[in-house]
Amino acid sequence: MEILDAIRDRHCVRAYLPKPVDAEIITEILDTARWAPSGVNIQPWQVAVVQGESKQRLGDALIAARKRGDEPNPDYPYYPECWQTPYSVRRQKCGLALYSALGIGRKDKEKRLAAWYRNYRFFDAPVGLLFFLDDSLQTGSWLDMGMFMQNIMLAARHFDLDTCPQASLAEYPDIVRDILDIPAEKRVICGMALGYADPDAAVNQYRLPREASSRFTRWYE
Ligand SMILES: Cc1cc2nc3c(=O)[nH]c(=O)nc-3n(C[C@H](O)[C@H](O)[C@H](O)COP(=O)(O)O)c2cc1C
Repeated sequence: MEILDAIRDRHCVRAYLPKPVDAEIITEILDTARWAPSGVNIQPWQVAVVQGESKQRLGDALIAARKRGDEPNPDYPYYPECWQTPYSVRRQKCGLALYSALGIGRKDKEKRLAAWYRNYRFFDAPVGLLFFLDDSLQTGSWLDMGMFMQNIMLAARHFDLDTCPQASLAEYPDIVRDILDIPAEKRVICGMALGYADPDAAVNQYRLPREASSRFTRWYE
């Protein structure tokens, strides 16, 4: 696949076929993604690949925490506490597109919650990825991690695989560390679903727009 096509064609997939992904392909994706740049080449990314039993146990525990009403306590705040325009408007449009694709009304809290729970199952993708950074590292390493994750999402397209990055999987980091036996000093940054898209699922049919580059770019001579 052409690189520009892969970048433009990538989108979040939230329903997957029950078709396993070969371990060799997962390894090749990670082997490719590791060529991401990182400040002074420290390569700070660490990854857990969960499938089968471990994915099931993780999903069970995260859903149970949510159902108990445990307050999410992520290792970092991903979103602002106070949303400002234009971000608040884009966020609203994003939610609207998702829930209308799922046929869930604005006020149907139960169905919205059930849809949110699907995050904890990696949207039934056969493979879940979790990303960690040592807590000794600084904010710069988060840039490196973002580039590494984008490489994974683009490399996946080469194999006709799709992805969805998921900050939701970092909502209860202690559960993730506990189930995967990850040391306390590793921060849980994000999760990611990986698998073959279900082409018929309604939730996979919509695409979100982007602002024209002229709206966020200043040119100088
Ligand atoms: C770091 C990161 C975390 C995200 N977390 C979630 C998530 O937890 N659940 C979800 O459904 N989508 C999540 N998304 C997907 C975004 O909602 C999505 O990228 C955005 O709406 C644009 O849609 P597109 O990627 O399909 O173009 C996340 C995206 C990023 C980059």
